[in-house]
Order: sequence, then structure tokens, then C-alpha cells
Amino acid sequence: MDGSIYEKMNIQWFPGHMTKAQRMIGENIGMVDAVCEILDARIPNASRNPDIDSLVGDKPRLIILNRCDLADETVTKRWKKSFEAKGMSVIECDAKSGKGVNAFVPAVKKLLADKIAANEAKGLVGKPLRIMILGIPNVGKSTFINKVAGRKAAAAGDKPGVTRGKQWISIDRSLDLLDTPGILWPKFDNQQVGELLAVTNAIKSDVIDKETLAANFMIRLREMYPQSLEARYKFTPDRELNGFELLEQCAKKRGFLISKGEYDIERMANTLLGEYHEGKLGRLTLELPDE
Ligand code: G4P
Repeated sequence: MDGSIYEKMNIQWFPGHMTKAQRMIGENIGMVDAVCEILDARIPNASRNPDIDSLVGDKPRLIILNRCDLADETVTKRWKKSFEAKGMSVIECDAKSGKGVNAFVPAVKKLLADKIAANEAKGLVGKPLRIMILGIPNVGKSTFINKVAGRKAAAAGDKPGVTRGKQWISIDRSLDLLDTPGILWPKFDNQQVGELLAVTNAIKSDVIDKETLAANFMIRLREMYPQSLEARYKFTPDRELNGFELLEQCAKKRGFLISKGEYDIERMANTLLGEYHEGKLGRLTLELPDE
């Protein structure tokens, strides 16, 4: 996207987590048969750690596109194809409702069919497959694992960045999951990635300037989903306006008045970010795959 139309932001980052994640992956990778990476389907690129490819080597890979209920269905299909083209298996799901989660076990068994056959040939019938589950904080790992396990196996709803110890979760006699809680931070090397993580609540928005975040988000929505702004806020985003002016235009429509002629941009910023989080703007995916 054209950087010039976006406001500059300062977002704090916590690189220490990455070293810990690298160490943990390195120590455990030899024990697992495959790696399953959970991504947010609205930001499949920003919610990945690009180093993961080198960290996990040539282990078979499964990608879970989670939060599909909030993502643009047609774009999710495109993301699925793009990961498949890189040799990964992909399932789409909404871990909160459980939709799509049933595809996980069959997908693992298909992915590891050769391994299962090799185990059987060695007389190791029924040896559990071991899968490492990776994902950035708040992407839905605990919710997903609970749904797959069919019980309360992992504590869901932790605040972003809160870490717990690693744990093995037995799904059935043929499958064990290694949960690697909240320590796989995404690569945070540009402002756009930071903003995408903040608007999807992967990083706490109380550490950043919400008005600037919302102003830039307005611009992004004007570029990608102007029809959603029109449907929700009954205004046509003017191409000539900057993000703050768009927030003001929208506040006017909403009647967020502070005093005569002055509109409440802060309230509008909170409303926009809150309503996106609640899915009130529709199913919007904020990144497109390179095709
Ligand atoms: P984590 O282990 O990766 O840190 O994430 P966790 O499972 O705790 O999930 C974080 C939040 O995301 C939880 O909501 C959970 O309900 C929600 N979530 C997980 N998967 C999905 C999904 O597929 N769709 C939707 N819509 N939500 C999902 P929470 O703690 O109540 O926070 P909130 O984000 O709902 O406000």
C-alpha cells in the first residue's frame, strides 16, 4: 500500500519473546511428526512468524486458518490455495463455534499417511502421532485445542502475551498435541504488520495511539472495503480526505458531537475498532495473498 497516505505510528515491541520461542521450538521439534500453525484468517501474513519456515525445517506442515467467521470467505479460499501451493495442508475453521474443527484429525492423518504406514510396517501400530501447535498469542490456540480435544484442555481467554508452560494434550490414542502457549510472536518489522495485529487485538491496543490506529484503519477500509463503511456508517469515504478527516466525517454521521461544530474523533476511533472486533462491519480480510 502507498505509505504516504498513512499516518506514522510508534508501536512498542517485545523481541525477547522470540528467542524463547526459538529455543522452545528447537528443543521440541525432534519429538514431533508435524507442525500445525494457527493463523488469523483476516491477517494470514501478519499473524505468521516468517522465521518459522527455518525453525521447523522440513517437518510436514498444517495451516489452520482460524477466525474464518470474521474473514472474507472468498479471500480465505485464495489464502488456502496459496499455502497449498507451498506444499502445506490447510483447514479453515471457526474455533469459537467449532465449525470446521472436525476436519483437523482427518487432515493430520492424511498429511502423515506415510508416517502411519511406516509405523505400521515397523509393528508400531497405534503409536500416537505428535503435533506441535504454534501460533501468536490470542490467535485462538486454546479455543482450538479445547474444541479438538472436546473438553477444557487448555485455558482460553488469556490476555495477549501471557505465557503458560508447554503441555501435551492427548486427543485420542492416536494423536497428541504439544501446546506451545503464547510465545510465538510475529515478526514485527514494519508498521503495517503492527497495525494489523493491533486492529485484530493480537497486541494490546492500550499501548498504542488508538486515534492514529483508527485513522489508518479508515484508509485501509476505504481502499479494501468501502462498501462496508457505507453500509455501517452511511457515508461514502471521500478519496481526498486523510484518515482523521474520515473519522470526523463518520463521527458527524453518527452524531458524535462534543460542542457546536466539533466532533468526537476519539469516540469514533473506539467505535470503529470495537465494531470491527465484534464483526459489525462484516467479514473483512485485511491482507491478500501474493498470487
Ligand atoms: P490463544 O490461546 O491463542 O491465546 O487464544 P484463545 O484461545 O484464548 O482465544 C482468544 C480469543 O479469541 C477468545 O475470546 C476466543 O473466544 C476467541 N476466538 C478463538 N477462535 C475464534 C474464532 O474462530 N472466531 C472468533 N470469532 N473468535 C475466536 P475472548 O478471550 O473472549 O476475547 P474476544 O476476542 O472474543 O473478545
